[in-house]
Formats: sequence, C-alpha cells, structure tokens
Amino acid sequence: QDELKHLVGRAAANYVLSNVAQGAVVGVGTGSTVNFFIDELAAMKDRFRGAISSSIASTERLKKHGISVLELDEIETLPVYVDGADEIDHSGHMIKGGGGALTREKIVAMVAQTFVCIVDESKRVDRLGKFPLPVEVIPMARAALMRRLAALGGEPVVRLAKDQSVFVTDNGNTIIDVHGLRIDDPEALEAEINGWPGIVTVGLFAQRGANICLLGSAKGVERIDY
Ligand code: A5P
Repeated sequence: QDELKHLVGRAAANYVLSNVAQGAVVGVGTGSTVNFFIDELAAMKDRFRGAISSSIASTERLKKHGISVLELDEIETLPVYVDGADEIDHSGHMIKGGGGALTREKIVAMVAQTFVCIVDESKRVDRLGKFPLPVEVIPMARAALMRRLAALGGEPVVRLAKDQSVFVTDNGNTIIDVHGLRIDDPEALEAEINGWPGIVTVGLFAQRGANICLLGSAKGVERIDY
C-alpha cells in the first residue's frame, strides 16, 4: 500500500507541476498519502511561492523540507488543493478526517479551485459509510450530539488518542466517529449534521467534493474527473 501511496503522491506532484503556474501557492492536505506528495513537492519547491497547510503535522513536514507555509489570510485564490481521503465514491464525494484534520481540510478545500484527491484503490467505494464518519464537535456538546448521531442510525464513539485519553484536534475540539451509518445521500446528510449547534465539521466532503481523483492500483495511476 505504501508503494501505491508513493505512486499517487508522485502523480499529484506531476499534476501540480504541469497545471499550476510558476510562483503559485499549493494547498496541502494531511495524512500518510499526502506525506509522499509533500516529499515529492520538496524537489520542485523553487517553482512555488509556498503552501497552505491543513494541519500542524503537515506544516511541520513542509517546513522540514524548507517549503514556506503561508496563512490562508495572506492569499485570495488557491489554484489547487491536494489531499487524501478515507473513502471516495463514484461522484467524488468523500469521507475524510481519519487523521483528525477535517476542519482545516474543509476550509482549504473551500478556497481551492481544484480539489485533487489522491488515494489507493482500497478507498474507492460504491457507497460511503463503511469507514466511520468523523465529526468534530465543541467538547461541551459531545453527549448531546452523540444522542442525535445515534438517532440517525449510527453508533457514535468518542475518538481516543494512543494513550487512551480523549483525542484533541488542532482546534482544541473532540471527534466523534460514527460507525455503521447508511449514507444514501451524502450531500443531504452533510447539510443536516452541519445545521446542529455544537457541530464544528462533519467529515463528509460532498457539497464540495473532489474535482479529480488520482487512483493508484497495481495497474498504475488512473485519473478520474468528476
Ligand atoms: C486527515 O484528517 C484525513 O482526512 C486524511 O486525508 C485521510 O485520513 C487519509 O489519510 P491517509 O492518506 O493516511 O489514509
């Protein structure tokens, strides 16, 4: 799998090289697949002004490579955002947030003109929901929102860190992972959950899905446009 992640990471760097103007800023997601993309980007860093990062972890990796990281406030447009996903369906709708960075990822995705999703074939699904849906919430609302999420038919579980303490996001919030949800209409579900007080971000990226998927398999990298 690491080989496939490396393959799509390199394909994304090539995409950026051929489609993004010299001196532009590149949006960078989070996760083990994106890490390969960051490493490839390092080799061509002089071509770009810098990156917008979606997490503390990606910022650290970018800086280690000497790639400058800009604040979103400093730019008005972002030609491309490259990020992984936990699941992607045939319309480019995704579940994201397995790494906990969903809120900043959604913000950067909103600004970007083109969202390029990089995944290996294990992430491609006919219907979203086998991967537990991450939902970032204000800690005070945790129990109340768990009851609402359970009423949707899912099984909500508070995410724990490796040391078994409650996982805390880069924004100081809690993540609830909702298992076993039947997601027939991702856009409608995203809108519904977004409307509840205390919700920070739902890990459904459907209203703003991917524009392009670079899908890695044993046959190579397939480009899918939505
Ligand atoms: C991070 O919060 C996620 O949205 C990641 O994009 C997603 O979990 C994919 O990560 P991997 O590339 O590590 O599978």
